[in-house]
Amino acid sequence: MASLPYIVGNWKMNGTRAMLNEARAIDRAAARLPKVQVAVAPPATLIYRTRDSVELIGVGGQDCHVKESGAFTGDISAPMLKDAGADFVIVGHSERRTLHAETSEIVKAKAEAAHSAGLAVIVCVGETEAERDAGSAEAVVGAQVEGSVPGTDGAVDRLTVAYEPVWAIGTGRVPSIDDVAAMHKAIRVKLVAIYGDAGAQVRILYGGSVKADNAAELLAVPEVGGALVGGASLAAESFLAIVGAAA
Ligand code: G3H
Repeated sequence: MASLPYIVGNWKMNGTRAMLNEARAIDRAAARLPKVQVAVAPPATLIYRTRDSVELIGVGGQDCHVKESGAFTGDISAPMLKDAGADFVIVGHSERRTLHAETSEIVKAKAEAAHSAGLAVIVCVGETEAERDAGSAEAVVGAQVEGSVPGTDGAVDRLTVAYEPVWAIGTGRVPSIDDVAAMHKAIRVKLVAIYGDAGAQVRILYGGSVKADNAAELLAVPEVGGALVGGASLAAESFLAIVGAAA
């Protein structure tokens, strides 16, 4: 059975308690859209309150540490996210890979830590503009997938991959539909090579400047199983327009 389209809002480092009103509005609307799976990833400070404010939508973290606990000032572990009410965690977002020097090896360890804590995982991959211009986008993304996805038992049941070209994040630019289709197909081939037939079940999201006016076209691309939305997820109205395009 084909899985539902999955629309995830990544709030990044945005939001104080006032954002809970947006989460509640998204949750109320999700009740009327049973053919879409909806989730938000608030900053860690809001996970617990978001969980308490919603009934239907998923709630996730934006990152986790590899270890369960220890002397890692400022970090948050996967079991802590789980305890706060998270269902999933995003790992390997390009802002983590770039600004925090996270390698695919680290991302894989985080994904496995998340699975061990009972969380589902969204593993992000994506090429830079220079890599695309050099013609190496598929090779770069393929290597990221291979190096970052978890080897945990039953990993595919709780795994989503998000393709986010770095140059499309927050820029208003998106790849051509043909390029999105080609990359998603290449990721699918890689997932099947890694996991066998089970790799065909892993949802692959597109992320990078998804808005109400391009969502329907992007979501119609073969192998695009949903969207990871940044800026447009910060207000219920713009996020729900994207959710509506998936319904
Ligand atoms: O995680 C979300 C992505 O980085 C996309 O962000 O929709 O603001 O381009 P954006």
